Amino acid sequence: MADELTPETLEEEQPQEKHKQRKNTLYPGVSDELADNMRTGWADTELHGLKPIAQAAHTATRRAALSARFPGERLVVPAGRLKTRSNDCEYPFRSSTEYAYLTGDQTENGVLVLEPSGTSGHTATLYLLPRSNRENGEFWLSNQGELWVGRRRSLAEAEQLLGIPAKDVRELADALAAAEGPVRVLRGHDAVIEKALTDKVTAERDEELRVFLSEARAVKDRFEIGELRKAVDSTVRGFEDVVKVLDKAEATSERYIEGTFFLRARVEGNDVGYGSICAAGPNACTLHWVRNDGEVRPGDLLLLDAGVETRDLYTADVTRTLPINGTYSDIQRKIYDAVYEAQEAGIAAVQPGAKFRDFHDAAQRVLAEKLVEWGLLEGPVERVLELSLQRRWTLHGTGHMLGMDVHDCAVARTEAYVDGTLQPGMCLTVEPGLYFQTDDLTVPEEYRGIGVRIEDDILVTEDGNENLSAGLPRASAEVEAWMARLKG
Ligand code: GLY
Ligand code: MN
Ligand code: MN
Repeated sequence: MADELTPETLEEEQPQEKHKQRKNTLYPGVSDELADNMRTGWADTELHGLKPIAQAAHTATRRAALSARFPGERLVVPAGRLKTRSNDCEYPFRSSTEYAYLTGDQTENGVLVLEPSGTSGHTATLYLLPRSNRENGEFWLSNQGELWVGRRRSLAEAEQLLGIPAKDVRELADALAAAEGPVRVLRGHDAVIEKALTDKVTAERDEELRVFLSEARAVKDRFEIGELRKAVDSTVRGFEDVVKVLDKAEATSERYIEGTFFLRARVEGNDVGYGSICAAGPNACTLHWVRNDGEVRPGDLLLLDAGVETRDLYTADVTRTLPINGTYSDIQRKIYDAVYEAQEAGIAAVQPGAKFRDFHDAAQRVLAEKLVEWGLLEGPVERVLELSLQRRWTLHGTGHMLGMDVHDCAVARTEAYVDGTLQPGMCLTVEPGLYFQTDDLTVPEEYRGIGVRIEDDILVTEDGNENLSAGLPRASAEVEAWMARLKG
């Protein structure tokens, strides 16, 4: 930050002629006396006998699946690096999903390397930034020195916690550049590592690695399902927080709602899993409304689409559309109840062995029926569905895989995802909606400016499904009763 001690700022602080200093060759402007002084007098804080993290056994299984898919090849999966916001300020760091999935680690600059060993199989090594050296001044003179950014795990500590041998990441680029044999890298996270591998990799082969890691995450293990439950439970509490302050939000804006939900996300989890959509009134019709700077008016609806991301980086993705004054108007209720009915049909279609598309088709059919019934579309419903005419008001697909990324498994092949079959352990959202733009002249005026979405997180089980976000009411009367209770 601005007050960081750098060689330049140190120079300004040097005593003038009174105490003549010896010249320090390593860091000009730093006296040998000060360098000597900073070198010593620090306690040994090394931690011993650390227990492995809760998911260490799971990350080993995930690495084994990756190893089996690419025998004989070196595989390189970086966490990513800090991104500069301006000058010496960085954006908050969030590890690449793939790195965290395979290691349970989330630290910047980390790189997982699987080296082929034996006839098949791999040896995993984690390359990390070690503790700062105090002898050479790095501890306080480098901008990644621990004096400024905080204590890091030592390599030995990381090994104990993560169950993976660890080495100094600063040696990795040269080692990769010198290495022989086939190699693949997960692109888009670490330019230094990618540069070291430029002549050894191809985009096509690297994409196969990315696709594999996307598809591998489709079925969640026990640890992951526990994390998704945690994410949803915190999200339920975050929605309750918002309802409790809706009166204050009326006095301010959607900003208050965003801030209220974020407080819960940050205290119980790591962050929000995506930019919260806090859309009051007609803003609900803008699907990616993340400006959250509009007014919150009684009589309007609030579409709140938000999810807490846990500290191990699993996110919920939940939407409720709430009457700001606590009671839906007739037209709001009519549209809301139609979306609810569509969601019920969608959730019922989430079953092991069903096609992924089934729940989408089930929900879209209900919405098309309603639009025909209301006279907004000419029937028959089959024709509407065939021509996708309902899409003017339904706008988006009915759901997606959920996990470490809100749109999880996003680069999976079509046959493995959209054209695939649901299996126990998959988790997906079911989120139909209807949106009537303020300037839509094809609908009666009373519809205009109303946007409704209801979104829940559904786990596919052995014999059906479980709605993880059932802690939040969905039926319109239940939503009203819940809001009345919370507002007291
Ligand atoms: N919040 C993003 C989504 O619902 O897909
Ligand atoms: Mn979603
Ligand atoms: Mn959502």
